[in-house]
Amino acid sequence: MKLEKARIRDATQMHELINLFADKGEMLARALSEIYENIRDYFVVRQDERVVACAALHVSWSDLAEIKSVAVAEDSQKEGTGAQLVEACLKEAKDLGIPTVFCLTYKPAFFEKLGFSQVEKMELPHKVWGECYRCPKFPNCDEVALIYHLEAGT
Ligand SMILES: CC(C)(COP(=O)(O)OP(=O)(O)OC[C@H]1O[C@@H](n2cnc3c(N)ncnc32)[C@H](O)[C@@H]1OP(=O)(O)O)[C@@H](O)C(=O)NCCC(=O)NCCS
Repeated sequence: MKLEKARIRDATQMHELINLFADKGEMLARALSEIYENIRDYFVVRQDERVVACAALHVSWSDLAEIKSVAVAEDSQKEGTGAQLVEACLKEAKDLGIPTVFCLTYKPAFFEKLGFSQVEKMELPHKVWGECYRCPKFPNCDEVALIYHLEAGT
């Protein structure tokens, strides 16, 4: 298995993987167009030509980035792949000089294991709510917000 930046040909498999879990209510759905537009945000884990996992780091502002769409295929879970993807996103944020990373998720315990801490959603800057207006759940967001401070954590 190989973790690397996504290529454009990975987009359709990432779309399937994310939306499989979105259909079960475990994460938010992504449009294929959104994946293409943000392809440089994504990391994938490939087994030969199959994309078995993906995650994205999206820059929100000068001091803030978001980890999105962490998805590991069911037959590849519990092998440390999700953790490796989150670590890759954190490293990219660090390399970019971004001190704080946040996520909105239904799986807070997974992120807590990786050093994230829960915060009140309203503590996040308004800038990050940009895409929430397009969410079918808006304004009744039931995801949990967590943050990771790279300066303190690394
Ligand atoms: C959540 C998810 C990304 C975890 O991926 P994974 O590859 O199975 O996770 P890892 O094997 O890297 O686990 C890392 C650690 O987190 C723990 N963990 C994994 N999933 C967890 C969960 N749902 N709740 C609590 N802890 C969890 C593991 O036990 C492991 O801990 P350990 O190091 O003490 O053994 C994966 O289950 C998934 O894709 N789920 C569906 C999509 C989803 O819910 N994404 C959430 C982010 S939006």
